[in-house]
Amino acid sequence: NSNKFTFPKDFLWGGATAACQTEGAYDVDGRGLSTSDIHKFDPSLDRKKYRSKLVENEHTTATLERAVADKTGYYPKRHGNEFYYRYKEDIALMKEMGFNSFRFSIAWPRVFPNGDELEPNEKGLEFYDKVIAEVINAGMEPIVTMFHYDIPLHLLTEYGGFRNPKLIEFMTRYGKILLDRYGDKVKYWIPFNQTNLIQYCSFKSLGILRDKTDNLAEDQYQAIHHQFIINAKLKEYAKSLNPEIQIGIMLADCTYYPRTCKPEDIVFAMKRIRMQYFYADVPLRGEYPGHMLRYFKENNINIKISEEDKVLLRENTLDFLAFSYYYSRTLDSEKNTMDPASISENPYLTGNAWGWTIDPLGFYNAISQYWDRYQKPIMVAENGFGYEDVFEDGTVHDDYRIDYLKHHIQAIGEAVKDGVDIFAYLPWSPIDAVSSGTAEMSKRYGFVYVDFDDFGKGTGDRFKKDSFYWYQKVIATNGAGL
Ligand code: BG6
Repeated sequence: NSNKFTFPKDFLWGGATAACQTEGAYDVDGRGLSTSDIHKFDPSLDRKKYRSKLVENEHTTATLERAVADKTGYYPKRHGNEFYYRYKEDIALMKEMGFNSFRFSIAWPRVFPNGDELEPNEKGLEFYDKVIAEVINAGMEPIVTMFHYDIPLHLLTEYGGFRNPKLIEFMTRYGKILLDRYGDKVKYWIPFNQTNLIQYCSFKSLGILRDKTDNLAEDQYQAIHHQFIINAKLKEYAKSLNPEIQIGIMLADCTYYPRTCKPEDIVFAMKRIRMQYFYADVPLRGEYPGHMLRYFKENNINIKISEEDKVLLRENTLDFLAFSYYYSRTLDSEKNTMDPASISENPYLTGNAWGWTIDPLGFYNAISQYWDRYQKPIMVAENGFGYEDVFEDGTVHDDYRIDYLKHHIQAIGEAVKDGVDIFAYLPWSPIDAVSSGTAEMSKRYGFVYVDFDDFGKGTGDRFKKDSFYWYQKVIATNGAGL
């Protein structure tokens, strides 16, 4: 039955990317260096263990200096897929697929190379003037992330990252400049990508260096508090500028299943999920949940939250919930800890080479839980299937990707039937890009193949995969052609 699902008539179909994984041109037009520029490709990496080593969490001033001085290693995020030079071609390909929306990020170090300047780098902004104009001319709604894993390095070495309240001033200044310049063109804004991955991404999302902290957990939560304040300040400013602007919080979904129906497993999974909801609870509901205040108290975590902060958070809750969904995780209360990296195998699911499970029901579950909890519009800001594609005869036969996406879009269709206000589907990265977690090019998500390998060798030319034509049909039929 091809008419099984009916999507809202103005549903946003598109895709999502990030500057640090696509743009390249890291030293062009005044751009400064950022946290993403020091992620070296490691050919010996163990794909399954990479995340659990928490590599993103271990940087120190010394490792950072070494990477900046390294003249021989290959740093893929400095080069991306060359979107900086090929954005017209890429936007045209998205238009050909029928996209009516495109989520991308603005590189903070292009606009403020050091992060603490008073005036922005005009050359950097000019690039986004062109990209936004191109996106709008192609008939797409631009959806902009202000900060996606690329903090100017100077803010780490000089200020210690987001745990320093000075960062409130710097990021708010940056955000206001973007809202002033693009607030009449861009309706949907996401200040922070995946705010909840603070244990995985304490370096790239909070800017914390291991040698600059005595109490890592306290600094991580203080940093996240500062990000909550920035969200609220930007929301307050946006309201005064143009009430049409919508500001969203974004989570990386961490759906956890209890390993058994043993009550201990159920409660343990609930506690781990609750720790993730916390990152949306504060910006969407306007206050800290009691279980987190208890957790802070019992774990020697002293967060500075002023009375003024509380009022600001209460009066400036955000407009929508954006989240990324890739896979579900399973927990065993006897084996696992509260560390987000601590998970167990799920015997009912298969996965890809990186151990990311395929679980569309988990997606339906996640959407439903978010809706029931917040009752705010939902944007699927990322979803997709990373695979080492085989490129032959100028294309890729990626039926595995089509299968993954099809079942996940059907999960959205089910949620729509439930009456969930879900308004956008933005699969991760329509044009192949560098992986965020492993810096591989060979972990591909795109509808379009990019001829670069893990060391940046290749022409960079673009080729349509089978999924290109499939997604084109899904969009043309507004989901009815699934
Ligand atoms: C999310 C990020 O974590 O997942 C993206 O917002 C990232 O930046 C995506 O690319 C997929 O992760 P990876 O490591 O496969 O690129």
